[in-house]
Amino acid sequence: MDVHIAVLAAGKGTRMRSAMPKVLHRAGGLPLIEHVLRTADALRPQTTTVVIGHQADSIRDALSRHTRLRFVVQEPQLGTGHAVLQVESALPSANGTLVVLSGDVPLLTAATLKGLLQHHVTSGSSMTVLTMVVEDPSGYGRIVRSGESGDQLACIVEERDASPQQRLIREVNAGVYAIVLEGLLDAIRSIGTENAQGEYYLPDALTILQRGGRRVEAVPAPNTDEVSGINTRAELAVVNRIMRDEKNAALMASGVTLEDPATAYIDADVTIGPDTIIHPGVSLEGSTTIGSGCEIHSGVRIVNSQIGDRVTILNHCVLVESRVAAEARIGPFANLRKDSDVREKAHVGNFVELKNTVLGRGSKANHLSYLGDARLGENVNVGAGTITCNYDGEQKRQTTIEDGAFIGSDSQLVAPVTVGRNAYIGTGTTIRENVPADALAVSAGKQRNIENWVTERKKRKKN
Ligand code: UD1
Ligand code: CA
Repeated sequence: MDVHIAVLAAGKGTRMRSAMPKVLHRAGGLPLIEHVLRTADALRPQTTTVVIGHQADSIRDALSRHTRLRFVVQEPQLGTGHAVLQVESALPSANGTLVVLSGDVPLLTAATLKGLLQHHVTSGSSMTVLTMVVEDPSGYGRIVRSGESGDQLACIVEERDASPQQRLIREVNAGVYAIVLEGLLDAIRSIGTENAQGEYYLPDALTILQRGGRRVEAVPAPNTDEVSGINTRAELAVVNRIMRDEKNAALMASGVTLEDPATAYIDADVTIGPDTIIHPGVSLEGSTTIGSGCEIHSGVRIVNSQIGDRVTILNHCVLVESRVAAEARIGPFANLRKDSDVREKAHVGNFVELKNTVLGRGSKANHLSYLGDARLGENVNVGAGTITCNYDGEQKRQTTIEDGAFIGSDSQLVAPVTVGRNAYIGTGTTIRENVPADALAVSAGKQRNIENWVTERKKRKKN
């Protein structure tokens, strides 16, 4: 059977009160619509089309890496029925089944979607809608059932069009549908706008199909959480919490210790090896990977970075788009900016900032340094307060420090410059020229002591 998917994402999402489209707000570190698209992929659809309208370009841009995705623009947005009609131009033919999803239902699982499709096919239905039973149905379309045992779907009534009696119904429309394409678009075209919002409601297609002698079905979802849509920031926070809890549970099951799961903020795509310990208040974001046997202390934020095995990251470090190899030690209070590459057993200590810099195997920069656009070899010792002066006001330039070199505290390395193997830089030296291997470089003048200077000054002040 050919399955086509339509994801509705043209609406404004007014209740988010946001300049950003609703479906681009993030849960579990990913845009809401990204979750929906991943679930949709599990059905192995022939085509997936996203209906965009409000802020169409920003949604298109955010999804640009999905190369097989089709987009149709719905302008103006005249309702969910009207939105599905726009998908016609993206479909190869009028055959197969169209699965309609909303971009704001990120917890929907592939299993539920498959169950819906299964029921749709085995019942021979023309249109099958997923429903859920909720405590508070306000805002949702109500499922009005008929027949002796109430197993038949009569219609779906939107909140604003519902009678007081209908409003009491707690079974609601989840906004997820499987529909036989043949005949669907004709049904949608005959949807009217005689309702409180003056919109073309997709649920009205059910009634039209049914009147035309077609079978329609309403299937309750196994889990209500899954299909609750996001309309407000409060609902976004709830979904975020649910996703984090699921992620944390999976990590713990795989052998990761989370000292306080409630404050472990770990994005959906992060991987962590067994026997790694995550202390409270840690954020692991994006495509970050962490090896096994690591210890990540409180207040650490790691974004799109790769951390090897048995790495220790002490409190309050920030790592962005960087790599840290096995058995390295970072922090506390270190700032690893983009393209920092800390090799095996290297140490980066407190108040050290790295940017686009390789710190070779076993090298140490333990205190108060800035290393930018630098290549440091193995077993280099960087003294406290060392600064690579990588920017001359116009260009960024590179510093190279070869294996075994010793950089005395409070030195400046004015790039471009190279310090050779095992060279030794005296404390407080400003390096402007290359230093040969094994050489000592000093630039400070000879020390001068003025005897009794303090006593003399005191005497002068008294007079
Ligand atoms: C819709 C259903 C309601 C259901 C609820 C479930 C209708 C008329 N109502 O109501 O029965 O209980 O979802 O969450 O369908 N969209 C477009 N173009 C439009 C209008 C909407 O693409 O012209 C998109 C929105 O971006 C959103 C989805 O369709 O992703 C649902 O729209 P929304 O306005 O949130 O519908 P609800 O009022 O929640
Ligand atoms: Ca909604």
